[in-house]
Amino acid sequence: MSLAATILIAIVVMVILSASRGSEDKTTAKKKVYALRNKYFWGLTILVIVGLFTTLQSLPYSFSGKQADETYTVVALQWGWKIAPGVSNIAPADFEGADEINIKANKTIKFIVTSQDVNHDFSIYNDEGVLLTQTQAMPGYKNVLHYTFPKPGTYHVVCLEYCGGAHDYMVTTINVI
Ligand code: CUA
Repeated sequence: MSLAATILIAIVVMVILSASRGSEDKTTAKKKVYALRNKYFWGLTILVIVGLFTTLQSLPYSFSGKQADETYTVVALQWGWKIAPGVSNIAPADFEGADEINIKANKTIKFIVTSQDVNHDFSIYNDEGVLLTQTQAMPGYKNVLHYTFPKPGTYHVVCLEYCGGAHDYMVTTINVI
């Protein structure tokens, strides 16, 4: 397959080379190509800048930079969650936390998320099944996620990274009061 592709590319290149030879003055052709390249360059640059500024504002993970009201440490494991208030320097495997927690509404919550075994994904859903925010839970890394629960209710933490046999059951509840 790759040999056939290589041969095809070689043929195309040879056809292009033979077609371009002598048919046009080399410097004129060069100028044309450069002018076209310039147009493409500036066109793409403007497109990227406009795209960046218009889409950045709708990023779901914006954080105003103000101090978080409360911090929680989250450790993911096969197959469950350990969540507790505060910053932890304990090794993830030794860390102790609750499966189900209560959090206050309208407070900026800082989640420090890690894993004690394999990659998981800490994602928060509302009771209508809408994904609100998420971050990877990775062994050896602490990923920070800021989130403000808009109103009291039952929210669900679901693992969104396939992590083995009981991945589907890696679900818990955050009671927002
Ligand atoms: Cu943990 Cu999937």
